[in-house]
Amino acid sequence: MKIAPSILSADFADLADSAARAEGADMLHIDVMDGVFVPNITIGPGVVAALRKRFSLPFDVHLMIVNPERHISAFAEAGADIITVQVESTPHVHRAVQMVKQAGLKAGVCINPATPACMVSELLDIADMILIMTVNPGFGGQTMIPSALRKVEEVSRMVQASGRQIDIEVDGGINEATIVDAARAGANVFVAGSHVYGSSDPAAAVRRLREAALSAIASR
Ligand code: DX5
Ligand code: ZN
Repeated sequence: MKIAPSILSADFADLADSAARAEGADMLHIDVMDGVFVPNITIGPGVVAALRKRFSLPFDVHLMIVNPERHISAFAEAGADIITVQVESTPHVHRAVQMVKQAGLKAGVCINPATPACMVSELLDIADMILIMTVNPGFGGQTMIPSALRKVEEVSRMVQASGRQIDIEVDGGINEATIVDAARAGANVFVAGSHVYGSSDPAAAVRRLREAALSAIASR
């Protein structure tokens, strides 16, 4: 079980200190948006490089940008540990994943709520993580789309059949209640932005999310 706070909901005027308040996190989730693939614009490699100097935690970089191939090396050099590309963002997802692997990083593949699970089937022999969006990407603070959890179950079955060790990450609308359903559906990496950074005690929020996910699995 890994908890990945999304710094999209941290205080951008005080980003490093604000992000660091999520003590106990397993990695930091960094949302990169270009205003084209999604309506919002966020963080570039310069900010990732600046944060890298302040954190030893793994950086889970989620690219919501068109032509991700053009930017993979910049984010790798900036200090990403995992780079995730959206299957809808390029006709050459396999090449993008290969580029991430060739840079020596872990590669994730992400699917939007309207994208079927089968879109990742030909990537299971190369991907290290499948990210299932549980909201439409672009903004923090949205409510989870319940039907996305059926897809988590489907991807979980596909991953088991592959025989490979592949993480299943969920992103969007994760809180202490929805994390239980996501964990039961088969997810093991949980992104949480507004729930963690909207809390007066982000470290406690991380701890409680982990406890909720672990108890969901224990009672399965
Ligand atoms: C949405 C981003 C998410 C976002 C999640 O496009 O990919 O990582 O920060 O925010 P919450 O947890 O608030 O739904
Ligand atoms: Zn994200």
